[in-house]
Amino acid sequence: MNNLKILCVLLSACIIFLIIKLNMKPKETVITDNTAESTIDIIHKRKSVRSYTDKKVSQEDLLKLVKAGMAAPTAVNKQPWAFIAIDNREVLDQLAEGLPYAKMLKKATAAIVVCGDTDKALEGWEEIFWVQDCSAATQNILLAAESIGLGAVWTAAYPAEDRMQTVIDILNLPKHIIPLNVIPIGYPKGEQKPKNKWKEENIHWQKW
Ligand SMILES: Cc1cc2nc3c(=O)[nH]c(=O)nc-3n(C[C@H](O)[C@H](O)[C@H](O)COP(=O)(O)O)c2cc1C
Repeated sequence: MNNLKILCVLLSACIIFLIIKLNMKPKETVITDNTAESTIDIIHKRKSVRSYTDKKVSQEDLLKLVKAGMAAPTAVNKQPWAFIAIDNREVLDQLAEGLPYAKMLKKATAAIVVCGDTDKALEGWEEIFWVQDCSAATQNILLAAESIGLGAVWTAAYPAEDRMQTVIDILNLPKHIIPLNVIPIGYPKGEQKPKNKWKEENIHWQKW
């Protein structure tokens, strides 16, 4: 009987210890937590970030972002994309020079160029689905950046012919690779707040 009592006390102590341990998680982990609630938080916290500190974005983090991009849904699961990860100062500067609406690349320590691959895309009129597919990948990248404390912004290439040509020339893109955008990435400088875009008049229930 005595042994049973000791066993019960020990078991209770273990359970209490485990409960305390689980509640002692540092607050930051909530951001990378895979709960539905934290995903919603990240979605609402995301904002375009155009000022960055000098701190370099690691290739490991760039890979994390590209992996998040490749997890996006695509029409008929074609995955008609290619991602160019850039952390070379010279290439970032060349893009900054050539792209009028992406001057923040001068300060960004990295960038990802999301491209459509027409060789992997659907055929005929469905080919253009690569734009939605790559846009979904882009949003995943922007959200992943927010979730790991990086700042990023979508800057357009497609469908602006001149900007596309600039990116094609600087990055030596082959004919079947079309740049959708350039995403400058860095550690945010200063505090940027997300915009509140909720407008009740933009939702229609059941029918218009
Ligand atoms: C298709 C597209 C093209 C964009 N192009 C540019 C761009 O060339 N340069 C830029 O600074 N921001 C660009 N943006 C970012 C928008 O300006 C930004 O998303 C918008 O102002 C809303 O702000 P938020 O991202 O902070 O919510 C683009 C965004 C989208 C979706």
